[in-house]
Amino acid sequence: MDGMSNSAYRYIQTHRIAGALGAEISGVNLAEPLALEVLAEIRRALLENLVIFFRDQDMTPERMLRFARNWGEIHRHPYIAGMPDYPDVLELNKKASDKRNFGGDWHTDQMFAPKPAMGTMLWAKQVPAAGGDTLFANMYLAYESLSDGMKALISDVRGMCVGDKKKSGASRAAVNAATISMTTLEPPPDMPRESAHPLVRTHPETGRKSLYIGGHVHYLENMTREESAPLVEYLYEHSHRPEFTCRFRWQQGSLAFWDNRCTQHFAINDYPAETRIMHRVTVCGDTPY
Ligand code: SIN
Repeated sequence: MDGMSNSAYRYIQTHRIAGALGAEISGVNLAEPLALEVLAEIRRALLENLVIFFRDQDMTPERMLRFARNWGEIHRHPYIAGMPDYPDVLELNKKASDKRNFGGDWHTDQMFAPKPAMGTMLWAKQVPAAGGDTLFANMYLAYESLSDGMKALISDVRGMCVGDKKKSGASRAAVNAATISMTTLEPPPDMPRESAHPLVRTHPETGRKSLYIGGHVHYLENMTREESAPLVEYLYEHSHRPEFTCRFRWQQGSLAFWDNRCTQHFAINDYPAETRIMHRVTVCGDTPY
């Protein structure tokens, strides 16, 4: 795995779960404050593996927020209400009666915002007996595997990322309300409804280029939706080829931490008539370049 060799660690152990990305980390209790040396190793593990997983973590909203603050400012979701006492923690609660889930398409978080999320943490409070796995895809590999011609073609192109509308035109709040047991919000009127971001993004910490695409990219800057569609659809489909992905099987107490700057993810909706409850905290990021 180019650039993902997982050289020796002193405080943690890493176990890769797929060829493309993803590693389970052991030797850490995220419920406790962590020493700077341990945090530095977790950061290195994240940069090397793009998404990291911890098992058997006894998390509370306060503990998740404390761990998340090590990576930056906490982001508050503009469309979904947080937990009553913890507005910065989302409870993703798919009940047995819900038909659709949250995050059930390939995407990277808050791409619609001028400064999309750096990272997201998701902790499993209750999981179905089987199913409810999450897929992740490596956007460095997605970019590196494009032809030189395609890389040149998209090198200066920006995608128009939309947050509050589904492609059908229905408001996201209305769509979510119909499909998942969560309280949706209408965003503040002065919040930008879309953001332009480069299709080829340079990671601010690793310096590597990745393909910055996902379900939020609806069309290309200075082009119509019809003109944009073939390229947007091609890049979207290409971005999650199986060899770029890993699949994580949740257990109660598992925590995933992914780097939104170089991955996409997809929550699989394959557990009808069962409940899945997750707690989610997102860390603010910077302007993509
Ligand atoms: C998300 O897109 O943040 C949700 C992922 C999941 O529930 O597995």
